[in-house]
Amino acid sequence: MRRLKSIHGEWSSRGAFFLAATGAVVGLGNIWKYPYIAGQNGGGAFLLLYLLCLLLVGMPLRMAELLLGRRGRGSPPTAFHELAVDEGRWRAWAAVGVFAVVASLLILSFYSVIAGWGLDYMWMSAVGSYRGQSESAIQGVFSALNDEPWRLLMWHTLFMGMTTAVVSRGVQRGLERVARVFVPVLFILLAVLGLYAAVEGNIVKAVHYLFTPDFAALNGKVVLIALGHAFFTLSLGMGTMMAYGAYLPEDVSILRVSVWIVLADTLAALLSGIAIYPLVFAGNLPAMQGPGLIFTVLPTAYGHAKYGDAFGALFYMALVLAAWTSAIALLEPGVAWLVERGMARAKAAMVLGSVVWFLGLMTILSFNIWSGVLILGHSWFGLLDMLTGNLMLPVIGLLIVVFVGWMVAERSLRQELQFRRGVFRIWLSVLRYVTPVAMLLVLLNALGLIRGAYDGSKPISAG
Ligand code: PHE
Repeated sequence: MRRLKSIHGEWSSRGAFFLAATGAVVGLGNIWKYPYIAGQNGGGAFLLLYLLCLLLVGMPLRMAELLLGRRGRGSPPTAFHELAVDEGRWRAWAAVGVFAVVASLLILSFYSVIAGWGLDYMWMSAVGSYRGQSESAIQGVFSALNDEPWRLLMWHTLFMGMTTAVVSRGVQRGLERVARVFVPVLFILLAVLGLYAAVEGNIVKAVHYLFTPDFAALNGKVVLIALGHAFFTLSLGMGTMMAYGAYLPEDVSILRVSVWIVLADTLAALLSGIAIYPLVFAGNLPAMQGPGLIFTVLPTAYGHAKYGDAFGALFYMALVLAAWTSAIALLEPGVAWLVERGMARAKAAMVLGSVVWFLGLMTILSFNIWSGVLILGHSWFGLLDMLTGNLMLPVIGLLIVVFVGWMVAERSLRQELQFRRGVFRIWLSVLRYVTPVAMLLVLLNALGLIRGAYDGSKPISAG
C-alpha cells in the first residue's frame, strides 16, 4: 500500500510516545474511580478480574486503535477514510472517526469542569481551609462550590486555557513537551502521596480493603463493571489512541508499548488507592463511592492529618495533572482533523477549545441555575455523562473492532504489527471474537438491557 506520512510530525522517540500515551490514559478514572470500585467489588479478586479484562479486551482494542492511526496517519476521520480507500471498503467508515471526535469533545466539556473542582480543592487545601473541619462541613463547602457558577467558570476557563495552549503548539512542542515533564512528576507525586498515607494512615486496613481477594463478591455485574472500567481507563473508543498512533514512528513495536502503557495505567490506579484509603480509614471515615470520596471524605481526612494541608494540595495537584494530560488527548483528535482540512493549528485549537468551553458552561449551569431543568429525566451533565460513556464509547469501540478485525486485510495488519505468526493469530482471534462480544455486553448493560445491571461504563459518576 502507499506509505502515508503524518502532516503533524511524529513523536521524537518511543519514550516520548510512551509518556504522552501514559498521560492520556491516566486520568480521573485512575485516581478517583478505580480505588472505590475495587474496594467495593471484591478487592484483590476485582483486581484479578480487571487485569483479565485489560488483557483480553483492553489490549487488543488498544493495539487496533494504534494500528489504525499509524496506518492511516491522521486524525480518526482521516485515518478511517484512508484505510477504507486502501482496503476497498465503504468510505462512509470515516463517519466513525467523526463520531469519535464528537464524543471526545463532549467528554472534554465536562471533564474540564471536574478538573476545575480539582483546581479549587488544590487552592483551598493549600490555604488550609479544610483544617480540622468535619465531614458535613466539607460537604457544605462542596455544594457551595457548585452553587457558584462564577467560581466554576473561572476554573473551567483556566483549565481549558491550559489545555488549548498545549494543543495549539503541536505534537512535539506541545503534547510531547508537557508529557515529558508532567507525567514523571505525576508518578512521583502519587508515590510520595502513597508513602505519606502509609506512614500517617492505617495502611493495614487499606491494603486489606484493596487487595484481599473476596471471590464471593464476584458475579456477572462485577464483570461488567470491570469491563466498562477497562475501556474507560485505557481511553478506548474515543479515537484518542488513533490520533496518538498517527504520530508513532514506524519502528516502534505496538505490542510492546501497549504492554507498558497498560502497566503504567494499572500502577497509577493502585498508587492512588494507597494514597487515599489509609487516610480515610485512619480518620474512621466512610469508604463510600462517588465524588464524595475524594471531594468530601478525603479533604476531611487530610484536614485531620499531620501536614495535611500541604499533602492535600499535592493530591489535588496530582489529580489536576492527570486530568490535564488526558484533556490534551481529548482535544487533539479534533484539532488534528481541522488541521488536515487546511486550518492553521493555533486557530483550530482556539476554535475547538472555545466550542468545548462553551459546552462546559452548560455543565456548570446544570449544577446550579439550571439544576431543575431535566432532559429525558437527566440534568445536562447527567445526560452528557450517560450519552458519551454508556452509548458512544461502546458503539465506537465496537465499530473500530469490526473495522480492524473484519474489514482490513490480514496482510495489512500483519505488516503493521510485525508479530510472529502465532502471536498474530491469537491477537486476531481475540479481536474478532472476544472483544466484540465484550463491547456488546458493556453496551447492553449500559442501556439497562441486562437485568440487575450496574453502570459500569459510566465515566465520572459525579452525579
Ligand atoms: N482514561 C482517562 C481516565 O482514566 C479518561 C480519558 C478517556 C482520557 C478518553 C482521554 C480520552 O480518566
